[in-house]
Amino acid sequence: MIATLAEVLGPALRDGYAVPGLVCLGWEDARAYVRAAEAERAPLILQAGPGARAHMPVAVWGAMFRALGEAASVPVVAHLDHGLTVGDARAAIAAGFTSVMIDGSALPLEQNIHLTAEVAALAHAAGLSCEGELGVVGYAGGKASTGTDPDEAARFARETGVDALAVSVGNVHLQQDAGQGLDLALIRRIEAVTDVPLVIHGGSGVPVDQRAMLAAGSRIAKFNVGTELRMAFGAALREAVARDPARFDRIAILRDTEEPVTEAARAVFRGMGASNRV
Ligand code: 13P
Repeated sequence: MIATLAEVLGPALRDGYAVPGLVCLGWEDARAYVRAAEAERAPLILQAGPGARAHMPVAVWGAMFRALGEAASVPVVAHLDHGLTVGDARAAIAAGFTSVMIDGSALPLEQNIHLTAEVAALAHAAGLSCEGELGVVGYAGGKASTGTDPDEAARFARETGVDALAVSVGNVHLQQDAGQGLDLALIRRIEAVTDVPLVIHGGSGVPVDQRAMLAAGSRIAKFNVGTELRMAFGAALREAVARDPARFDRIAILRDTEEPVTEAARAVFRGMGASNRV
């Protein structure tokens, strides 16, 4: 069934688990993630980010996520990841997404609040959810991070009305191995002054035991995971191509990625306590 972000994060916060926001690049990974969620009896957030949208039109992503979600036996959120403009949000809403992230984290605080409040109002008027971001989450080998300021977070949450807030607390995008772990003291300071569900981008770099601990014992209700599962897909695809040099039918080749990607995704659900929740 199709769901909004608010509908899946409320129970996660109440019952002490986190919902994976899984980065999708195409049909095969998205379908494997839905199969993994159904096998785990877990809610799922399917995400289309900027790379995915450069590859395939947002209207196609929206239709695909909705088709998968409507046929699923568990709640599935169709989520726009890293929308940058009001136009991105409008296009996603028109395409059937049930949740839009507006990333104003590169803007000065006032402008970020203004942009995010506008998108949150648009989403709420359509019965949908909105995620904002405050603080800069950097990239492995690229842009550096700036930690989220707790007082700014309190104001941002109050003035924008977002359903979820992505924070920068030691997380970095695109890490291929578990990193140092998150700054627990900063998470606690943010939690002390806001009551919005928190989101961690760059979930691949967060050690699995810390994911489990934070899912159960903090207001982090969503971890975005991309790299870890894209690596599983890439490895499975390489093996599938090499297995039979005579094979050229892409459907037959890609079919071999389904089981390993589903298994890797099932481990992600279990690692944040999301299994057997629906
Ligand atoms: P990783 O690829 O580092 O897991 O990050 C995913 C993400 O945050 C997408 O917004």
